[in-house]
Amino acid sequence: MKEKLTLDEKIRLVTGSDWWRTVAVEEKGLSSVFMSDGPHGLRVQIDSGDHLGLNKSINTVCYPAESIISSSFNKELLFKYGEVIGKEALSLSVDMLLGPGVNIKRNPKCGRNFEYYAEDPVVSGKLGSEFIKGLQSVGVSACVKHFVCNNTENKRNYSDSRVNERTLREVYLKPFEICVKEAHPDALMCSYNLVNGTYMSENKRLLTDILKKEWRYSGIVVSDWGAVKSRSVSLRSGLDLEMPYSECSYNDVKKALEDGSLRESDLDKAVERMISFIKKSEEKRSKRTLYSFSRDEAREYSREVVSESVVLLKNKENFFPLKREEKLLIVGEVAKKPHYQGGGSAHIDNDSVLSFCDILKERNINFDYKEGYILEKNTTEDVDPSSYDKVLFVVGNKKSDESEGFDRDTLSLPECVNTLLENTLKKCKSSGLLIFTGGVVTLPFEKNCNGVMYAGLPGEYGCEGVVDVVMGDVSPSGKLTETWIKKEEDATTYLSCISNEKTVEYNEGVFVGYKYYESKNIKPLFEFGHGLSYTKFKYSNAKIEKENDNFKITFKIKNIGKMDGKETAFLFVTYPLTSEPRSYKSLLDFTKVSLKTGEEKEVMFLIKKEDLTVYNEDGKEYIPFGEYTFTLSSSLSSSEAVLKGEIDGKRDEVTLFTLVDDIWNDKERRQILEEIVIKKLLVAFRMNEIPEDKKKIILSLPLYSLCGLAKGVISEEDKKLLLERLNEV
Ligand code: BGC
Repeated sequence: MKEKLTLDEKIRLVTGSDWWRTVAVEEKGLSSVFMSDGPHGLRVQIDSGDHLGLNKSINTVCYPAESIISSSFNKELLFKYGEVIGKEALSLSVDMLLGPGVNIKRNPKCGRNFEYYAEDPVVSGKLGSEFIKGLQSVGVSACVKHFVCNNTENKRNYSDSRVNERTLREVYLKPFEICVKEAHPDALMCSYNLVNGTYMSENKRLLTDILKKEWRYSGIVVSDWGAVKSRSVSLRSGLDLEMPYSECSYNDVKKALEDGSLRESDLDKAVERMISFIKKSEEKRSKRTLYSFSRDEAREYSREVVSESVVLLKNKENFFPLKREEKLLIVGEVAKKPHYQGGGSAHIDNDSVLSFCDILKERNINFDYKEGYILEKNTTEDVDPSSYDKVLFVVGNKKSDESEGFDRDTLSLPECVNTLLENTLKKCKSSGLLIFTGGVVTLPFEKNCNGVMYAGLPGEYGCEGVVDVVMGDVSPSGKLTETWIKKEEDATTYLSCISNEKTVEYNEGVFVGYKYYESKNIKPLFEFGHGLSYTKFKYSNAKIEKENDNFKITFKIKNIGKMDGKETAFLFVTYPLTSEPRSYKSLLDFTKVSLKTGEEKEVMFLIKKEDLTVYNEDGKEYIPFGEYTFTLSSSLSSSEAVLKGEIDGKRDEVTLFTLVDDIWNDKERRQILEEIVIKKLLVAFRMNEIPEDKKKIILSLPLYSLCGLAKGVISEEDKKLLLERLNEV
């Protein structure tokens, strides 16, 4: 097909025709592909365009943000999300949705965290995959973004993320790798920033060598809007489509082809991918007639997913659920003017929004209301809570605080909100907080309230799901996908993000989020995986079976409480000791189970050997050999069952410089060492065994020193045989 195109057509095909469309070459049978932002709704702009949410777009449904629906930990619901939004996209003739965002929430202040799933790569990768599969199942292409290490918004256009190879592989590339390998997105968007000194739009190593060659990714790579510096260099590096249109790219490519700095074969590679992408889109369009979009379905979906995602963080004296017969005061502007979505390219123009108070009224729940604070004016009013059984403070950030393009200045709630809480909480008989934010906030007054519930940014209909949980129609089952720290300075990224430098040093390495706090035994305010329920679950019968180095872990969960509910079970792994430092626990998988009161179900995790892959400091992958500890748990620090399993993975190569200690800890190798070296040395020293008080110092020796301990006892042949045998196992 590419042969049919002229050089001129080929050059035009690899840059957008306007803000949202690819170039059509109609005489050659190539139509234009139309795209729209996501991920929380469709920002469809027909005649205008921008990438910051400045111009009007068609009114569409504003769905709950990724940062809250991820708390559902429900893979099926993420698939369904893809289907629902996909059907709306089809109804507006959108071929490709620009989402999901699977960047790691490295920095709790990142302005765009509401667009991302989690601080953990497995959660981000698996939930992102399900969304992509759901979306593509109805015939809309997904464009997973922003590849990679775009974990801060401040200076995103020129900030350089300095990250070591192992951390890059184990943490930041991983969610993309999972999405590419499990869900095969039709497109992937490269980010604005640089990684280790090279702009992502020009990063051949990441775009071509790793993404396309190593992972065998077959879709197109699209630039983030305006992320291309030089079209010819980006083409050479593996960037297939530049978006949006550009005034100067054509001439740049033409000139580079003429002066030989760009080969036509590099252009052709992008053209080939573009052609198959366009053809695929054309084929998908045939599905438009198969599905119809219903706003009622979108509303029902939003309610369902939010009711599964709201996280009950604290519930002293059963503050939640609120009861109809209680004398209730609701305080807070956000209860009537909801903070329900973030800003920037994810901003959705929608018809109307249902507030928390609207839904309470709709359901005939009696309550009094006080505004308490006004966010825009930063003012607080006096509230007398003394005559109420319960007071619920509905709090949130200002709309303009959480957006693409810049980071949050602070993790504190707005000043007027904190003043209200400081003045009023202590006067309440019983009080609770209901928090509407895109991510972590610090809660200095948490000790003074009985209940805390996190509602995220629930979208235009999501408050229905929030009320379901607040009033006890649904038992909460959301759990945190991000650690809530006690104060800003506790963030692992605090030091690397306070400077004005253009470089961001990823100093904490693989110890991102809970991996840091858990390994250092630091108790945050609310840990990763934390989330309370109105009912109770019991885990039992945990078993592990090994089949060809894959593990099957089965267990039972029973609802032993008084209410139907859902439970997310986590499977964490603790690796055997490796040469590189590892976090004490890393998440391997998670599953969500729905259980009626008294009901019990058997649950299974299948862990393939490859799921245990890690990287060494040079970025080489391997599966550590030795004993693995698998912890089944209901949150990060709870432990419902601990199971052990051995992996016959790759052992490090032994040389005469290897430490005796490393061999001693490996049963099979130790036997060989004892047989060939230790026995002879013991004879030479007239000893029966190594004296206990000398053991540590002997184990600290390198092999060559051990062999030389007694002159002439260990021959060159012995050493040769020793190395041969040790490296055979
Ligand atoms: C954002 C992308 C978005 C694009 C188009 C950029 O500013 O980073 O996520 O898809 O604009 O609006």
